[in-house]
Amino acid sequence: MKNTIKHQYVVALLLSVITCSTMFSQNKSSKNFSIDEINTKVDSILPLLTLEEKVAMCHAQSKFSTPGVDRLGIPEIWMSDGPHGVRAEISWDSWDYAGWTNDSITAFPALTCLAATFRPELSAQYGMSVGEEALYREKDVLLGPGVNIYRTPLNGRNFEYLGEDPYLASKMVVPYIKGVQKNGVAACVKHYALNNQEHWRNIINVEVSDRALHEIYLPAFKASVQEAGVWSIMGAYNKVRGQFACHNELLLNDILKKDWGFDGVVISDWSGAHSTEESALYGLDMEMGTGTDGLGTSTANHYDHYYLASPFLKAIKNGDMDEALVNDKVRRILRLMYRTNMNPNKALGKINNKEHHDVARKIATEGIVLLKNENNFFPIEDKEGLTIAVIGENATRSMTAGGGSSELKPKFEISPLEGLKQRYKKAKIIHAMGYHTGSSVYDNIIPSNLNQDSLRIEAIATAKKADIVLYVGGLNKSHLQDCEGDDRQSYELPYNQEELINQLKAVSPKLGMLLVTGNAVETPWLSKVDGLLQTWYLGSMAGHAIADVVSGDVNPSGKLPFSFPKKLKDNGAHFYGEISYPGDGTNQYYKEDILVGYRWHDTKKIASQYAFGYGLSYTKFSLSNIKADQNKYNTKDNITVSCSINNTGNLEGDEVVQVYIGKKNSKVKRALKELKGFNKASLTKGESKNVSISIPVSSLAYYNESISDWSIEKGDYLIYVGNASNNISKTIKISVQ
Ligand code: BGC
Repeated sequence: MKNTIKHQYVVALLLSVITCSTMFSQNKSSKNFSIDEINTKVDSILPLLTLEEKVAMCHAQSKFSTPGVDRLGIPEIWMSDGPHGVRAEISWDSWDYAGWTNDSITAFPALTCLAATFRPELSAQYGMSVGEEALYREKDVLLGPGVNIYRTPLNGRNFEYLGEDPYLASKMVVPYIKGVQKNGVAACVKHYALNNQEHWRNIINVEVSDRALHEIYLPAFKASVQEAGVWSIMGAYNKVRGQFACHNELLLNDILKKDWGFDGVVISDWSGAHSTEESALYGLDMEMGTGTDGLGTSTANHYDHYYLASPFLKAIKNGDMDEALVNDKVRRILRLMYRTNMNPNKALGKINNKEHHDVARKIATEGIVLLKNENNFFPIEDKEGLTIAVIGENATRSMTAGGGSSELKPKFEISPLEGLKQRYKKAKIIHAMGYHTGSSVYDNIIPSNLNQDSLRIEAIATAKKADIVLYVGGLNKSHLQDCEGDDRQSYELPYNQEELINQLKAVSPKLGMLLVTGNAVETPWLSKVDGLLQTWYLGSMAGHAIADVVSGDVNPSGKLPFSFPKKLKDNGAHFYGEISYPGDGTNQYYKEDILVGYRWHDTKKIASQYAFGYGLSYTKFSLSNIKADQNKYNTKDNITVSCSINNTGNLEGDEVVQVYIGKKNSKVKRALKELKGFNKASLTKGESKNVSISIPVSSLAYYNESISDWSIEKGDYLIYVGNASNNISKTIKISVQ
């Protein structure tokens, strides 16, 4: 159980222990301590701690907590997974759920959906809301958000991340972190770095160029540190250039702590630490999850055997290691505590309130992407005499259960079927499962005692009775689907869904599909569906959000945060074969280098099925009057790109103007173009709005490997303005002097 010492009590104890009382006086007028105040407090408290106490603070005492120091009133630190909500309580020493009855939460949409909103303001609301829930659940650290770049559609964990573009991921992650931390809860951005696949995640050594590292894989982490001021970061499981990422000299000491000035805590992924010496020396501050589950039978306290426990203590006592090493780690940990559980001005948090449900629904509806809409299949009007058949296991399956550590125990989860039934009052909704994969189906839909064949026959019979069929398919959160621990094994839809879609099309002239995934899938069945919505994993309010968009109550405005290649081989990581993905079991080489996602498709002229940034609307937009404020810039200038968005259709709606920039005739390898700015605008029907996007010329720099720094190349650049990476309305030439 959480240490029950209350914040005021903690502070009172500290005051009594420390002679210099002014240093510890609370600044009641401001919510948080300033960094100077924190550092002063940390410097005062550090000499009071014994070596044993300091070492103890650097490793777990249970699955999700680290010890405090009772005699000084220093509380424990409690953590919980993220990133889509606060995970149910886990047992002290095992991965079993503790079975509490008061830990149900709001499940927010998966981060892929958040990225698809292209709306950083929603990210701020997401962070604030999930932070409030973490606070209510008395968590000091929320283990999220995840910003690993989407490199391959097979990665089982892509749904927890913010897509394939470093700029988009950076813009979306910063407000999330700020929102969480406004509550006095530390965000823990993860998994640093290059954990871009789950297959062999514990052993694979990633070899990547400096350019790809700095231009593609690190920017969202850097923005988390430098723009959001994140208070903790989680090391990744994999190795990077031969050293495990959780204690990696280059990533942690050189880049994160030295170059970026990170002053927070590096937390290992659970079992991500592998050596006392490397953990001590190469940047790890807090070791979690190592070895067997907690209190083993053979020793009094298994946690004492962590790499940063007794062996670390012994090495310092022997003089083999400098005490300065533990002091630096504890300084960081205390800093995190003054920002979280030792901040006496912390609020109490909120959980499952209407605001959080509204935020979850708003993000879910705004992230849904309309991929195809032949003959205006969507929206579907609610009218008497209409029968809609909702087919597919994903219409009723829980998508907050499963998936690994991001699994949630929501107070409720509205399924797509339930949401549609609540919304459609005049039309009749009928349902059949179509196929059944086993666990994790909503309790109220007890699978009939039909086998797979008869489920199929029942689905076809149900479809025949309907005017419109909505097939709800995709992946799910089972092992080898969208799930932590391994990757998908093929790019196709699983469970023979293609055949089911073909059979449904044969009996239903109007067939639409809701694709429930966190990843791209192969779409050979595309011509069979008239309408297609990418609906992600949407959390508690999933069904309501889906019904909002299907009915037209909300006009879809999501844009894909990653490309849908036609074939797996069309993806850059897969193009080079196994040595690039998944590696040979020991090493892998990111051979596509900086050409990740749309950068690959654009540069190699390999069209994707659906491009990064793509998404349709129920209304129509056009962009006009597109221009840059000048045609010559200096390296310190900002480029202001402006345009007019015109809603030329009959409905209000939102459109995302996207600005990409590329350099022709560059002396270094470049992607054809890269996202450098975007702006989402809401327009009533017939309305026109001017939008302007400011882009610092410095953001056109490339990472110059010969000087290990960024360089801005002079010369001509092309600015591409459009509403998708493959739908550019105008290209403007500028030059940088
Ligand atoms: C995951 C982390 C998670 C941790 C604790 C690990 O397996 O990779 O993302 O935060 O477990 O559950």
